[in-house]
Amino acid sequence: MVCFTGKDSIRSSPCKAFFSKAVLFFLRHDNGVEMEQDSDELVLMDPTVGADMNASQRRRPKNVRWHGFDVNKAARSAIKHQRPAILWFTGLSGSGKSTIANALERSLHARGKHTYVLDGDNVRHGLNRDLGFSDADRVENIRRVAEMAKLMADAGLIVIVSFISPFREERRMAREMMDQGEFIEIFVDTPLEECARRDPKGLYEKALAGKIANFTGITSPYEMPQSPELHLKTVGYQPAQLALIVEEFLERRIAEK
Ligand SMILES: Nc1ncnc2c1ncn2[C@@H]1O[C@H](COP(=O)(O)OP(=O)(O)OP(=O)(O)O)[C@@H](O)[C@H]1O
Ligand SMILES: [Mg+2]
Repeated sequence: MVCFTGKDSIRSSPCKAFFSKAVLFFLRHDNGVEMEQDSDELVLMDPTVGADMNASQRRRPKNVRWHGFDVNKAARSAIKHQRPAILWFTGLSGSGKSTIANALERSLHARGKHTYVLDGDNVRHGLNRDLGFSDADRVENIRRVAEMAKLMADAGLIVIVSFISPFREERRMAREMMDQGEFIEIFVDTPLEECARRDPKGLYEKALAGKIANFTGITSPYEMPQSPELHLKTVGYQPAQLALIVEEFLERRIAEK
């Protein structure tokens, strides 16, 4: 069996699948597939090749098995003297997610905590640079960052995720991927009018002028969390005060463990 890579025709993202040598021979000679000289890895030149496989088959090669390692999450976090967490900030653009995340990380870092911020814009510069803002791409955007956050929590970190993440279903998906009690949803609640007034990136001005498609709160919905672990109303408060509320929550969580 060999592996080849190609474009997933649904999401335009890379996919891998496994085929027998015989099938590969057919694909290679008759269907526009090219094979690297010294490897078993193929590149599909025609993205419709293999299109009859269903999506889950393409994404889940059968011969991949999880390998358990002896140094686990508990061991990694123990030497950091901290309990891993995924602090998932959700809210409109300009609501203050990145600003509060920054204040929080500074404070945790000053107290010797090992943290990492996964910020929407930053992740779209690298890992998710191939994704746009269609509904399908937004879902994939969240799935990837959730997987990344899960790995970082497994490494023992306190992960701060700062993503608009407008859809309840995606946030539920992210929550369900994490260990019990590890996903902490934080609703950064700022009225749309206030976000548009702040407009730190000038995006509302463009969106209201019809220059940006699928803009959350204007031409794309934002589904408010129904029961977040924390609900931060930002108007009338300083970012540092709001960061402190999150820190106090983390302290209580440690004490309750
Ligand atoms: N209480 C507050 N908390 C957070 N930000 C505030 C607050 N009051 C005013 N601001 C200002 O609001 C703006 C919030 O911008 P920020 O980039 O943090 O938003 P965001 O939610 O990360 O947006 P995006 O989703 O587009 O990245 C900043 O200019 C910040 O200074
Ligand atoms: Mg931000």
